[in-house]
Amino acid sequence: EEDLIYRFNGITFTTRSSPELLKSLVTFNAREDDVLLVSYPKSGTHWLAEILMHLYASRVALTSPIEFGDVSRLDQLNCLSCKRIIPTHLDGNMLPPTFRLKKCKVIYLIRNPKDIAVSMYHYYKENPNLPTVDSWPRFLEMFLKGDVVCGSWFDHVLSWEKHKNEKNTLFLFYEDMKKDLPTVVRKVSAFLGVNISEGKINEICEKSSFTKMKINTARESHDPSRTVCVLTSVRKLVFRKGAVGDWKNYFTPKQNQMFEETFNKKMAFSEVAKHLVYEY
Ligand code: A3P
Repeated sequence: EEDLIYRFNGITFTTRSSPELLKSLVTFNAREDDVLLVSYPKSGTHWLAEILMHLYASRVALTSPIEFGDVSRLDQLNCLSCKRIIPTHLDGNMLPPTFRLKKCKVIYLIRNPKDIAVSMYHYYKENPNLPTVDSWPRFLEMFLKGDVVCGSWFDHVLSWEKHKNEKNTLFLFYEDMKKDLPTVVRKVSAFLGVNISEGKINEICEKSSFTKMKINTARESHDPSRTVCVLTSVRKLVFRKGAVGDWKNYFTPKQNQMFEETFNKKMAFSEVAKHLVYEY
């Protein structure tokens, strides 16, 4: 149980990221045309990754997360000759410095943390790579304290929001994707400098629907050494509900109040958080 997780830089990691790899991340060589797909777990990473893969006509490699595996990971990434889309759940302060020096494009995906807490609770219960949790109230406490894998949601968002206004950074909201996916896909393709037709956009939206992805994943036999989320080895577990507002089925009024107190305290100066508060 306890062997599944450990702490590094004050953040909880699973043993699917070796400490040696985390230590050697600073030495990583980013390339100008790398695209980083950044998210806190359960924000819709698999969904956005699917969309990105359909977007490019040319050959691109969707790699496993930079923090996944052992030190050999960095060499594997180095050996890829084509353009790389690199997912990561790393805190902004742990990003290998060359990504910023080379001004690589960064897409940061964000989702209402109440829905993330619920999604992550189920993931903890079912995912063999995570320790077990006894109850929802206990998990929510851990989530608010940041005592979960990848650390505090609040700190994660804040660490990336510092770079929000840089030209090479795009913030996307899961809720916007649910509301109007074609608009988001258009925005992403413009940001990445990819030319695609309206017909292709519709095709991408169809292929990346929750139902399609869930069905396809159940059919595929998946290679667990290839994943877009360091926590995922059983891809089937990812496609649970895919809805906005499921938190309302779990939070008691008191838990909601507790959540909002922490949220307001931690996110007092966050522009991104305002969007979440007013819109969702
Ligand atoms: P739920 O647990 O609320 O259903 P990640 O990919 O970062 O691990 O995020 C997983 C969450 O995204 C899950 O949320 C999952 O259902 C949802 N998701 C995955 N694919 C989706 C899709 N095509 N459309 C909407 N939501 C999707």
